[in-house]
Amino acid sequence: MHDHIKEYWENQALKFHNSSLATSPDSIAFELEIETLMHYLSSWDKICDVGCGNGMKAKSLVVNLECDYVGIDFSGQMIKAANAVRSELLKQNPQLKITFKQADILEQNLFEKQSFDKVVSTRCLINLRNFQAQKKAIKNIASFLKKDGIFLCIENTLDALKNLNDVRERFGLEPIAVRWHNCYFKEKELLEFVKEDFVCEKIDNFASTYYLISRTLNALMSDVVDYNSKLNLLSAKLPAIGDFSPMKCFVLRKRV
Ligand SMILES: C[S@@+](CC[C@H](N)C(=O)[O-])C[C@H]1O[C@@H](n2cnc3c(N)ncnc32)[C@H](O)[C@@H]1O
Repeated sequence: MHDHIKEYWENQALKFHNSSLATSPDSIAFELEIETLMHYLSSWDKICDVGCGNGMKAKSLVVNLECDYVGIDFSGQMIKAANAVRSELLKQNPQLKITFKQADILEQNLFEKQSFDKVVSTRCLINLRNFQAQKKAIKNIASFLKKDGIFLCIENTLDALKNLNDVRERFGLEPIAVRWHNCYFKEKELLEFVKEDFVCEKIDNFASTYYLISRTLNALMSDVVDYNSKLNLLSAKLPAIGDFSPMKCFVLRKRV
């Protein structure tokens, strides 16, 4: 299973190169993720981005924050694409601190203990085959994050997906299924587990209103999925209310 999932991401990188479509079909949601990360990150942070993909998130983060950024991904093709982004960025500004490394988050001792101020994962851990593997990854992250550091865990939950699908049902829309290569978290189970190493400071449902509107009203207005419709663009600007976005940001502070 792990190898099939890796192959899937290798192919996504080959197909889409340096487009955000390689890691998300929904570029509005992708921008909301960047906006959310920027809110919690600072220019003096040393950041590790776990499952960084093809470097498109890194580009926004490093250019805007000038932080010290290390991205890891198990897909060699994603890292190749990310390194192309890195070369372009360094041509424009050789001072930028940006590196990429091909590595699997399930490997132990990827970095020395307490190497980073902040660790980010954006829809990476949901690609691990089960909760057992996800727990191992979270333990690894805890080990290379500094004490009192922050883990910005943007991952998907089954609970919020159910909330969204309940609304879809009212409109006669089919439920959205979890894709074959994903394993969504059960929120209570995740929060119970992370307690060992982290205090959950906030659950930021940053994309809730956007998901509610884009996956119900927008879906009803057209038979063809149009991620970039005017309605979607407008709904991304509304305040985030409720718990309707499968992905949310768990703001986890490592215990001292
Ligand atoms: C949905 S994409 C998100 C990429 C990036 N975080 C973003 O937001 O654009 C998931 C990424 O996680 C990577 N990934 C999945 N499992 C991984 C693992 N075990 N170790 C490292 N990277 C992994 C995939 O190769 C892919 O690039």
